[in-house]
Amino acid sequence: MKALIAYFTRTGRTKKTAKAIASALTNHEVSFFPVELTGKYVEKIKKLDKFENKDFSAIESELSTLDAANNDLIMIGMPTYGNFPPKVFDEILVRMKNLKGKKVIVFNTARFTGGKSLDYMKEKAESAGAEVIDQARFAKFLWIGEKDAIKFGKKVNESLS
Ligand SMILES: Cc1cc2nc3c(=O)[nH]c(=O)nc-3n(C[C@H](O)[C@H](O)[C@H](O)COP(=O)(O)O)c2cc1C
Repeated sequence: MKALIAYFTRTGRTKKTAKAIASALTNHEVSFFPVELTGKYVEKIKKLDKFENKDFSAIESELSTLDAANNDLIMIGMPTYGNFPPKVFDEILVRMKNLKGKKVIVFNTARFTGGKSLDYMKEKAESAGAEVIDQARFAKFLWIGEKDAIKFGKKVNESLS
């Protein structure tokens, strides 16, 4: 089976979580659609600001390749910004071709909240025609470990075998 994991990360926590989940998807051939902010702190903030103002020109060529076809599972992981994921989440849903009817799992990372944002992600993915089969929140104030993410990945792996 094939799985595509799309994620956004600014400080690396969501990336680490996505990789840990992927490590447990042993029955899947996993590919990634990473949206990672690079550069120095100020550069990252400027890039994030553009994204939050719905300017995705910096990743336009990558976005144009987004296609759920040929994947059995799509996972989308995001940080939590207030009660919402960053705007790139909505853009990924809009831009991903062949999402209708696909099995989707949404997950997020947060420092202490994230529940409402995760609900938003689920609802939005369903509105885009996806079948949301699971969701997970990974919240730690200081440090996000890999244990919970691997555990979740194993559960997903077994449920789709
Ligand atoms: C602008 C902004 C808003 C945030 N809002 C929340 C929040 O409402 N609740 C929360 O638990 N964490 C919040 N966080 C923390 C991030 O969601 C958390 O650190 C996340 O794991 C970062 O993911 P990343 O390392 O992949 O960028 C916020 C961070 C930023 C930069």
